[in-house]
Amino acid sequence: MKTSQSPKTSIDTFIRFLYGLVVLLLGLAAYLIFGRSHTMTSTETRADSSAIFIQPDSNFSHVWTAPSDWRMMYLSPKQKELVLYGRELIAHTSDYLGPKGSVRAMSNGMNCQNCHLKAGAQPWGNNYFAVESTYPKFRARSGTVENQVKRVNDCFERSLNGKKLDSTSKEMQAILAYIAWLGKDVAKGDKPKGSGIFKLKFLKRATDLDKGKMVYEGKCQSCHQANGEGVLAEGGKSYTYPPLWGVHSYNQGAGLFRISNLAGYVKYNMPLGTTYEKAQLSDEEAWDVAAYINSMPRPSMDLSHDWPKIAKKPFDHPFGPYADSYSEKRHKYGPYKK
Ligand code: HEC
Ligand code: HEC
Repeated sequence: MKTSQSPKTSIDTFIRFLYGLVVLLLGLAAYLIFGRSHTMTSTETRADSSAIFIQPDSNFSHVWTAPSDWRMMYLSPKQKELVLYGRELIAHTSDYLGPKGSVRAMSNGMNCQNCHLKAGAQPWGNNYFAVESTYPKFRARSGTVENQVKRVNDCFERSLNGKKLDSTSKEMQAILAYIAWLGKDVAKGDKPKGSGIFKLKFLKRATDLDKGKMVYEGKCQSCHQANGEGVLAEGGKSYTYPPLWGVHSYNQGAGLFRISNLAGYVKYNMPLGTTYEKAQLSDEEAWDVAAYINSMPRPSMDLSHDWPKIAKKPFDHPFGPYADSYSEKRHKYGPYKK
């Protein structure tokens, strides 16, 4: 009997071994690529799981950023003071213009910065990068050409559910000076990358309030509270965690009352600390939680003069009449048509 193998059979065994190894490695690679990317995207049912890292788009490079502070040394002392006061008003609006404001009581206690993060200087944080470069501009909501005073006052009347600020007041002048400072390097007409709010892709389905509630309870409620009304700071002049609904929140005429705006804002800015570089919610979670928040009660306002041309109403404007035959519910919650 021959017990030792011939050289040919040992080469065969070696080749078979190599073959097995290659198959094993391919299997492992396939698992790493498909298996893991699958768990990364199927976040729908995992609203309550811990932070999920979602790869940002590759086009998130070279976004616009605000001018550095040191460049303020080229401003006149008076101009610099005005710009800094403007920034202070954006960041701490309520201290000056809120219900207990030191200048005038004319808004709901929120700060512009609650929605315009880092005083309007955060990429895709609803910033002011493209304001100086694009206003005055025609806006379909009013059907008129709007200047910056009108646009700022829109937010006072809607987002801060308050009153208009006089265009000649030092406060309005300061806010405009600050917005001009932020946009000083942007060419007229330009909208630099990272301006405003990110536009998310539509979901194929309608937004889902039950799923949104789960996201809210898991990832938002700890700060914004179960009743959505936020937490006042000590002294009660402004909020540590601003309200998302209820009597002290933005009203039904506000930009965030459109689910697409709210979803885009939340996706790249919330939970607090999130930036476009490291989102924590999937698109679906952002859409669903936005729908949930905007299904809650909040102040109303007279919207009868908005959108004078109904064909220009945005797809997700939740109040009819519309140029198409879809219901208010379908317009508000989707599925949205292209
Ligand atoms: C509740 C959230 C919220 C608050 C608070 C808020 N805004 Fe806004 N603001 C928005 C949203 C949302 C938009 C964008 C609306 C849109 O794109 O339709 C916006 C748009 C603007 C714009 C136009 C930006 C552009 O690129 O066209 C200006 C200027 C502005 N806000 C100023 C202010 C000022 C000043 C304050 C404080 C007095 C303020 N906002 C408070 C949500 C808010
Ligand atoms: C760790 C606390 C924290 C968590 C968690 C958190 N937020 Fe916020 N949120 C804040 C703070 C603070 C601000 C105001 C930021 C500022 O003024 O700079 C804010 C602002 C907002 C705003 C704009 C202002 C307003 O009141 O309308 C919205 C909308 C919002 N958050 C939604 C959410 C959603 C949705 C989640 C969950 C996905 C969430 N937040 C989770 C702390 C938090």
